[in-house]
Amino acid sequence: MTARILSGKELTATLETEMRGEAERLEAAGSPPCLAVVLVGADPASHTYVRNKIKAAERVGIASVDKFLPDSTTQKELEGVIAELNADPAVHGILCQLPLPKGLDAERITRLIDPAKDVDCFHPSNVGLLAMGTPRFLPCTPAGVLALMTRNGVAISGKHAVILGRSNIVGRPLSLLLSRKGTDATVTVCHSRTPNLKELTRQADIVVAATGMTPEWVTGDMVKEGAVVIDVGMHRVEDASKKSGFRITGDVHYESVAPKCSAITPVPGGVGPMTITMLLQNTLTAARNPA
Ligand SMILES: NC(=O)c1ccc[n+]([C@@H]2O[C@H](COP(=O)([O-])OP(=O)(O)OC[C@H]3O[C@@H](n4cnc5c(N)ncnc54)[C@H](OP(=O)(O)O)[C@@H]3O)[C@@H](O)[C@H]2O)c1
Repeated sequence: MTARILSGKELTATLETEMRGEAERLEAAGSPPCLAVVLVGADPASHTYVRNKIKAAERVGIASVDKFLPDSTTQKELEGVIAELNADPAVHGILCQLPLPKGLDAERITRLIDPAKDVDCFHPSNVGLLAMGTPRFLPCTPAGVLALMTRNGVAISGKHAVILGRSNIVGRPLSLLLSRKGTDATVTVCHSRTPNLKELTRQADIVVAATGMTPEWVTGDMVKEGAVVIDVGMHRVEDASKKSGFRITGDVHYESVAPKCSAITPVPGGVGPMTITMLLQNTLTAARNPA
């Protein structure tokens, strides 16, 4: 079987074109979309993520307000910045890059962001709305997974999806998205205490790997013929043949899994780029429905 490649890189380009039009319409209507990006500390990986988000926002015509704060920032100072952004009517979305440096309470910050500006969809009230089937925003990585399937014509309704991972960022919200009315998958959520994992994945029409446990641990013998496999995992693996000294790989062993699949996401270039795109979609949603 030749697997269809679900390319996040390609879909992102299409969605960015659509979003540019929407951003222009909002600007013409007097509500130019704006995303505030809060970054505390000097962690290089966080700086790279944030830079990529700001660049993507620029490409689609979303302005950004950058709040880059030093490592020495106190909880009170950070809360002050969030309060300022909550009160600013020109700011539609607020993203606080995680993890925060030691000593800062990320959960408290997440709860302080105005839910109407919570474009990461981490606030308990937004998670609650999602669980009730009436979401204000869609959680970014799960929405990216869903878009990769729906925009490529992958059938989901009535299918059995097995999700490996139950985190608050990926596995759990994805289970809500896939099982909600209108999407209609039957979902099994697996975690580190799930016995007989292979028996479950081999029954799955759709396998979503989101553990970050070990590179390429989901192998061909774990999926059935014709399955759709989505790889959310992201690992840096040493590779002397690369200039950087490493390559990026996922939870899925592509070489053994792809020949059995009807569709599969590559790593890199699959789910990764979609997460930022969905963050920008949420920012446009916020700009259409200001706080
Ligand atoms: N592409 C993107 O944009 C994007 C975005 C977010 C995350 N990621 C990547 O996705 C991966 C997961 O991220 P995360 O934030 O969800 O990680 P996380 O919070 O560490 O959660 C990992 C989940 O995997 C489960 N797990 C661990 N070992 C397992 C096993 N042997 N079998 C089944 N489940 C197992 C854990 O189970 P327990 O709950 O029992 O511990 C946990 O629920 C990471 O590689 C991360 O880098 C990518």
